[in-house]
Amino acid sequence: MATATKIRMLERGMDQGVAQAGASQATATSGAPSDWAGIEAERGPGLYVPRGITLTRGEGAYVWDAEGRRYLDCTAAYGVASLGHCHPAVVAAIRRQAATLIACSGSFGNDQRAQLYAEMAEILPPGLTRLFFCNSGAEANEAALKFARLTTGRHGVVAAMRGFHGRTAGALAATWEPKYREPFEPLLPGFKYIPYNDEAALEAAVTDEVGAVILEVIQGEGGVRPGAVEFLQTAQRLCRERGALLIADEVQSGFGRTGTFFACEGVGLQPDILTMAKGIASGFPMGAVALGERVIQLSPGQHGTTFGGAPLACAAARATLRVLKQERIPAQVARHSALFFERLRALPSPRIREARGRGFMIGIELTEPAAPYIAAAQARGLLVLNAGVNVIRLLPPLILAEDDIAFAVAALSEALNP
Ligand SMILES: Cc1ncc(COP(=O)(O)O)c(C=O)c1O
Repeated sequence: MATATKIRMLERGMDQGVAQAGASQATATSGAPSDWAGIEAERGPGLYVPRGITLTRGEGAYVWDAEGRRYLDCTAAYGVASLGHCHPAVVAAIRRQAATLIACSGSFGNDQRAQLYAEMAEILPPGLTRLFFCNSGAEANEAALKFARLTTGRHGVVAAMRGFHGRTAGALAATWEPKYREPFEPLLPGFKYIPYNDEAALEAAVTDEVGAVILEVIQGEGGVRPGAVEFLQTAQRLCRERGALLIADEVQSGFGRTGTFFACEGVGLQPDILTMAKGIASGFPMGAVALGERVIQLSPGQHGTTFGGAPLACAAARATLRVLKQERIPAQVARHSALFFERLRALPSPRIREARGRGFMIGIELTEPAAPYIAAAQARGLLVLNAGVNVIRLLPPLILAEDDIAFAVAALSEALNP
């Protein structure tokens, strides 16, 4: 069947679904045809490994597929659905703001953006006083690298092996994994990669040509590897002594995921620039760059973005932040994470080498490739991610409850002991 015909059938099915939903509160899958996966395969870019299910609805820590099967979502859409899916406070804020003002460019003031600046100032690590809002993690890092270059006038950047900072040209140059980077070279010149947690290598790499050191506080994509306190503190000291700026990439670790608002707090780090995205607006696309006093005062035109800091995104971020604060969710993550790790470390499986991470950034390193076990967990109603070849990664919603943890551990136990 031609794709156009399929899409017309789909639209008719969805119309019927909407009508039924109004009458009987049916789920969003009502009346949907079953060939979405085929259309995605035919018309999508081919850039993502298909997981074999089509997700159509989410609520809290759970998502449902087109066949109505329920899954505990320990991916949170790559750590994005921080308050879980469709948190009522976020839904209400988006609804309200969508009916008030959706778009407003950076030159005009906006009530939502102004209030978000002020509210974020209360939770950011000390010394970070200004903010630039954008739309994704890569964009945040791209901007951070530009601001560091503007400030120092130096082209050199030190990044870490196994580090991941995004896929736009500048952020990709900072990303170590050769298979992501090498097909697109030449990228920006001047990038050096040192082994993560190697203080001596850092000491040697930060020369007077280096304008920025960019590091994840906990490496996510590279295998869920926490940064050693001494290593991160050395990075901060060297940057101060040698005139470079320290960029902490908290795109994955930020906004409560590690049991504090930012992972920097857990290790006493005061970066010059902190980048964030993912969970900031509980699923609504947003990124942000927080700037310290060592960054020069920026002038109009030096950087910018059409969509960044739009009222709708700011309203979703404000609602997320309000719930995180009022319900003390980072502290809850710390408590629940301790329970999670205790149970994971007690799992009997000859395949598990180590369970590591912080808060709800959890990596389970296996002695063999993780893919078959990730599929086995999915078949048991648990969605998890990989981080490299051998690591199962869990980035659950921050609201994960004790019962959910028990379910996740039981499903993993079965998956890992077929
Ligand atoms: C640490 C880190 N930095 C940057 C990025 C890129 O973010 P985005 O995919 O929103 O561009 C990611 C994405 O996984 C990340 O984990």
